[in-house]
Amino acid sequence: MKTPALRPLTLGAAAIAVTLMLLGRAQAGDDDFYPPVTDPLTVQECASCHIAFPASMLPAASWTRMMGELENHFGDDASVDADTTAAITRYLVDHAGDARGQPGKLLRGLRPGDAPLRITELPKWVREHDEVPRSEWTRKDVGSKANCTACHIDAAKGYFEDD
Ligand code: HEC
Ligand code: HEC
Repeated sequence: MKTPALRPLTLGAAAIAVTLMLLGRAQAGDDDFYPPVTDPLTVQECASCHIAFPASMLPAASWTRMMGELENHFGDDASVDADTTAAITRYLVDHAGDARGQPGKLLRGLRPGDAPLRITELPKWVREHDEVPRSEWTRKDVGSKANCTACHIDAAKGYFEDD
């Protein structure tokens, strides 16, 4: 005869184990987690050449400035029609690092009003990568500092841990 009590118990234990694992990950990753872009339009237009960089990695003024000059975007033309530009700007500004409730940890050291276009030139980003050896940056699969995914495999999901 089967033991009916055993199965639910095992499943319950497994569910608890998985929950603890997920919680552990969320907590361990707190410092290096930046909510990924969830807006489908922004993903569609801003994740074809590189990952959709988390909105909280720049202040609102940076996004407004960048979205105002998309036809000359780091040497590329990334322009989209006016409605799309407006909608993406709204999303990025609402989720910027200096917007309410967003993690602003990468903006430390910026002065109010600063509107840098590069995450990779933020004082805090530079400091976080101070000790990454030169040989890492010159790896063939890296190519550019902006190629976060080469070193942070879960970057598109918002995780920037060292792996
Ligand atoms: C046609 C290709 C293309 C599209 C589309 C595009 N980008 Fe870029 N983006 C680039 C290039 C090229 C760079 C410079 C990358 C480098 O330095 O290696 C860049 C760099 C960036 C950077 C700075 C990265 C750093 O160095 O910190 C940000 C932020 C950025 N893009 C945001 C966006 C946003 C927002 C959109 C959507 C509106 C977008 N990009 C769409 C090509 C594109
Ligand atoms: C050449 C590899 C490399 C690239 C490319 C790279 N990183 Fe990193 N990053 C690292 C390493 C290694 C660390 C850990 C440094 C340490 O702990 O001393 C790190 C740390 C970080 C941290 C701090 C995480 C924490 O624990 O608080 C953030 C945030 C981060 N990177 C974001 C980015 C972003 C955004 C990009 C792309 C625009 C990027 N990185 C590109 C290697 C890289």
